[in-house]
Amino acid sequence: MQSTPLSTALLHRVDPERAHQLAIAGLLLGLGGHHDGASDPALAVEAMGLRFANPIGIAAGFDKDARVVRPLARLGFGFVEAGTVTPLPQSGNAHPRLFRLPEDGAIINRMGFNNRGIDAALARLARLRRVPGVPVGLNLGINKQGAAPLDDYPMLVQAASPLVDYLVINLSSPNTPGLRDLQQPDRVAGLLQAIAPARRTRRPLLVKLSPDIAPGGLADLVEAVIAGGADGLIVTNTTLARPEWLRSHHSRESGGLSGEPLRARSTAMLAAVARIAKGRLALVGCGGIASAQDVLDKVRAGADLVQLYTGFVQHGPGLVARMLRDLPPLLRQQGLARLADAKGTAL
Ligand SMILES: Cc1cc2nc3c(=O)[nH]c(=O)nc-3n(C[C@H](O)[C@H](O)[C@H](O)COP(=O)(O)O)c2cc1C
Repeated sequence: MQSTPLSTALLHRVDPERAHQLAIAGLLLGLGGHHDGASDPALAVEAMGLRFANPIGIAAGFDKDARVVRPLARLGFGFVEAGTVTPLPQSGNAHPRLFRLPEDGAIINRMGFNNRGIDAALARLARLRRVPGVPVGLNLGINKQGAAPLDDYPMLVQAASPLVDYLVINLSSPNTPGLRDLQQPDRVAGLLQAIAPARRTRRPLLVKLSPDIAPGGLADLVEAVIAGGADGLIVTNTTLARPEWLRSHHSRESGGLSGEPLRARSTAMLAAVARIAKGRLALVGCGGIASAQDVLDKVRAGADLVQLYTGFVQHGPGLVARMLRDLPPLLRQQGLARLADAKGTAL
């Protein structure tokens, strides 16, 4: 793996959205580096009927239009989630809409599902040269204007099923008005019922949750997800909360907060979900991961798999290889033969 600390430092000096475009361009040119692809067998995971060489995935939003799935897979990620894609292309919210909070190890974004639409993403996925052993998922959302969730999500699921290994129903972006209301248990039940006939290929289906759901509402929600036939949950998306100790001058911007300040909140919710689900769902822990220890903490709180976004942006493309290197000795220190043996041990 060639690390690129210099280019990461440079990217941190330009406008964040421009930096993201440059990072995508760099990945397309093969500048991100290349992990040799072999993860320690102790990191292999089976979940949702899929095999993952390692459990560390890139979270949705980094590659909204499925343009760099292969370069991301070659960095060492164990799975890649593209999207969020919506039925129609849309430009998203007004600029500026992406803010770095370097002193807090965080990002605030109010991108608003800027993407080129499902047709463009599927055209790319149809041409994708797969990296063997790296499952690819697609995260699905609704347009800001003219959305009809009970029609849109089934259409998206049906269209995408033949081309990806798993699908995610995103109900948790804070930047699409009304979206998070779909997390109410009766509405989740209605949605999953509407989606069921579109799932002929039986691709694993996950629901992505917000960390801002009141703890009291969680049990009904998880039960509705299970009863509706979904296979897993991603816990969590970004938060609207703003811990008072944030130091960066952008900390009062509106939008979803991710990275370090989200970590404990999303891990606590993951543990709560794991206690309710009791093994009936695959769980993907997401929020604030930036080290091997963070991965282990999520697994101990019940995760089968993990994802990250902000840590990757902050620490650069070498982070994945570093985590893959650091995890096996960390497991040995704890007397664990396999990462999967740590699952739920903190509950
Ligand atoms: C700039 C940005 C854009 C994002 N866009 C999406 C998105 O389109 N769909 C989605 O489900 N999550 C999106 N997310 C949320 C991430 O997938 C992830 O759930 C969240 O950032 C927490 O993980 P992290 O702390 O590792 O970043 C986005 C996050 C960021 C920082």
